[in-house]
Amino acid sequence: MTQARTVTFPSGAQVPALGQGTWHMGDDPSRRADEIAALRRGLDLGLTMIDTAEMYGSGAAEELVGEAIRGRRDEAFLVSKVLPSHADSKGTVAACHASLRRLGTDRIDLYLLHWRGSVPLHETVEALDSLVSEGSIGSWGVSNFDVDDLADLPEGAHPETDQVLYNLTRRGPEYDLFPRCRELSIPIMAYSPVEQGRLLGHRALAAVASAHGAFPVQVALAWVLRRDDVIAIPKASTTAHVEENHAALDLHLTDDDLRALDQAFPPPTRKQPLEIL
Ligand SMILES: NC(=O)c1ccc[n+]([C@@H]2O[C@H](COP(=O)([O-])OP(=O)(O)OC[C@H]3O[C@@H](n4cnc5c(N)ncnc54)[C@H](OP(=O)(O)O)[C@@H]3O)[C@@H](O)[C@H]2O)c1
Repeated sequence: MTQARTVTFPSGAQVPALGQGTWHMGDDPSRRADEIAALRRGLDLGLTMIDTAEMYGSGAAEELVGEAIRGRRDEAFLVSKVLPSHADSKGTVAACHASLRRLGTDRIDLYLLHWRGSVPLHETVEALDSLVSEGSIGSWGVSNFDVDDLADLPEGAHPETDQVLYNLTRRGPEYDLFPRCRELSIPIMAYSPVEQGRLLGHRALAAVASAHGAFPVQVALAWVLRRDDVIAIPKASTTAHVEENHAALDLHLTDDDLRALDQAFPPPTRKQPLEIL
């Protein structure tokens, strides 16, 4: 079986570079069984990092993840997120404990501030540190933080990752955020790596895909995964999609492919504010 390239967090934890997203999972009861089967198939294939959040379905996605990992907790690396509106000292701890209950576990491996809100960052970071101390989370990180947001973190605060929007149509972070994260030695988590499906009908993607006998979705993922500091977390709610995405690990884009994709989706030449979905 294909072994995914791994990415190492500053804590030393290692995860496969291809994980699984869960936004909108658990929203539709008629799809529940398929979604759980998809996450479990992903675990079978080694896509062990599962990304969720208290926001997704107001906890429904976390409950679904809890069901999917029942009896398999040790195989999964769980990532969840606290809403900025909960991210004060008491709220962060309460939100984490509620997420733990929904996930049916006593530990979230990596806990992120979903985006920056009005709570002072030092207050959130203190609460996150206390969750590490009590063992409820393995470590913490941030999401949707641009370069200036990272700079505003309190001195001595070391996030494990920055989870941001990144795909062929959203290359802005390559200009300054990715170099900054490299300086800080933190890997990036690329969310919406296939632009929620909108990318998949693009002609340039189809051309590269057909040259490899691959699907466009696999080209989109292989392109994100070409960087050694990026983890991609596509959401797939069928086992067939999970298997297709997993096979992207075997797709190696050539220099010609990368040039063709650069032409269709030019890299940034100046600072672009970080985009958010
Ligand atoms: N931190 C943040 O602010 C933030 C924001 C957005 C997302 N996220 C995280 O990132 C994850 C991924 O982002 P996303 O869900 O927005 O978008 P995405 O992963 O780019 O796209 C998901 C869409 O692609 C489809 N898809 C997946 N694999 C496919 C395949 N092999 N063939 C055809 N279609 C396929 C899915 O369909 P099916 O569902 O039918 O398989 C779904 O409609 C989220 O689920 C969430 O965990 C984080």
